[in-house]
This record gives sequence, structure tokens and C-alpha cells, in this order.
Amino acid sequence: MNRYNIGAVVIVDNNNAIGNKGDLLCHLPNDLKHFKKVTTGHTVIMGRRTFESLPKGALPNRTNIVVSSANADNFPDCIVVKSIDEALAKCQPEDEIFIIGGGPLYNATITITDSLYLTRIHHSFEEVDTYFPEIDFDEWQLVEEEHHKADDKHKYDYSFLKYVRK
Ligand SMILES: NC(=O)c1ccc[n+]([C@@H]2O[C@H](COP(=O)([O-])OP(=O)(O)OC[C@H]3O[C@@H](n4cnc5c(N)ncnc54)[C@H](OP(=O)(O)O)[C@@H]3O)[C@@H](O)[C@H]2O)c1
Repeated sequence: MNRYNIGAVVIVDNNNAIGNKGDLLCHLPNDLKHFKKVTTGHTVIMGRRTFESLPKGALPNRTNIVVSSANADNFPDCIVVKSIDEALAKCQPEDEIFIIGGGPLYNATITITDSLYLTRIHHSFEEVDTYFPEIDFDEWQLVEEEHHKADDKHKYDYSFLKYVRK
């Protein structure tokens, strides 16, 4: 049992795809609001490519930790570490920590993740190059769900799902 409280926040399509060519698969404004609500005031840990995909750099009102072997000067307003262990060592046990991508980082942390904030886009995208790891739903209990229909600002139906490890 790890001593930290770790959540993963991710938006996936029907096949667990999360990105393509450095970008998200689609723009769903309500998911950005949801992401902000879940993570604000807490610590977010991300891989180098996810940092590079942020339009305005470090996320405001959050402690931003970037895992990368690159020079720390490339990541303004972030704590830069070379490994996940080093990232966790920068956190306090009482912190709420959110892993926010991308694929390699979710993969490396899924076994120590306590909760999953998963937005499911009810669509299968054709052009994808990055995935969230396969989820064994026997290991997770669904504790919150909110379903939304497509509308003029959201091209696809989507659901906000929260799971906790059983
Ligand atoms: N749908 C979503 O919720 C979501 C969330 C985040 C990102 N994304 C998408 O995912 C893509 C970007 O993410 P990505 O999967 O390509 O890469 P990423 O994990 O963001 O970045 C990969 C880099 O991070 C560092 N890194 C990651 N894991 C590490 C580990 N365990 N130990 C040491 N270093 C590690 C390495 O940096 P160095 O090479 O610098 O050493 C590695 O090359 C974009 O398409 C983005 O839009 C989607």
C-alpha cells in the first residue's frame, strides 16, 4: 500500500485512446472545467510531452511536477524530476496527487493509483497514437457517474466517471 493518495485524471475514447500527434482527441469544454475542478489546489504530475501540450504552460493554482530528463529551464513554474519516485518524494503524505498523463506516466503509476477520474468519450477515434493502460474493472468500483449528450459545443456524448480501487 502506498502512503500517498493518488488519482489519475484522464479523458479516453471507447478504446482507451488519449491522444494523437501531441494533442487531445477532441475539444470538450465541459471536460476542461471538470479537470480544473478536480485538480485545482492540489498537485499534478505529468510527463514532458504532456507539459509541452499545455497551451499556457504550468497549470495555475496547482503544484506542477514534470517528469523529464530534460533541462529544468524548459519547464517554467514547475518542479522538474527525473523519475516518479522522485516526484512522489516531493509530495507530502497529506497532498492529493493527480497523475495527468500521458501514456507512459499512466502506465507506470496505474498500480499505485487509488482513484480514477475517467471521462469517457462515447466515440472511437480513428487517428490515435497514445493510450491509457487497459483497465481491469474487477479491480475498480464505480462511485460517481454523470452522463452528457452531445450538444453544439460538444461533438460527442461523454460521461464523467469516478472509480476507486476495491
Ligand atoms: N486524454 C488525456 O487525458 C491526456 C492526458 C495527458 C496527455 N494526453 C495526450 O498524450 C500525449 C502526450 O503524452 P505522451 O503519452 O506522449 O507522453 P508523456 O508521458 O506526457 O511524456 C513522455 C515523456 O515524459 C517523461 N516520462 C514519462 N514517464 C516517465 C517515467 N516513468 N520515468 C521517467 N520519465 C518519464 C519522459 O521525458 P524525457 O523524454 O524528457 O526524459 C518521456 O519521454 C498528447 O497527445 C496529449 O494530448 C492526453
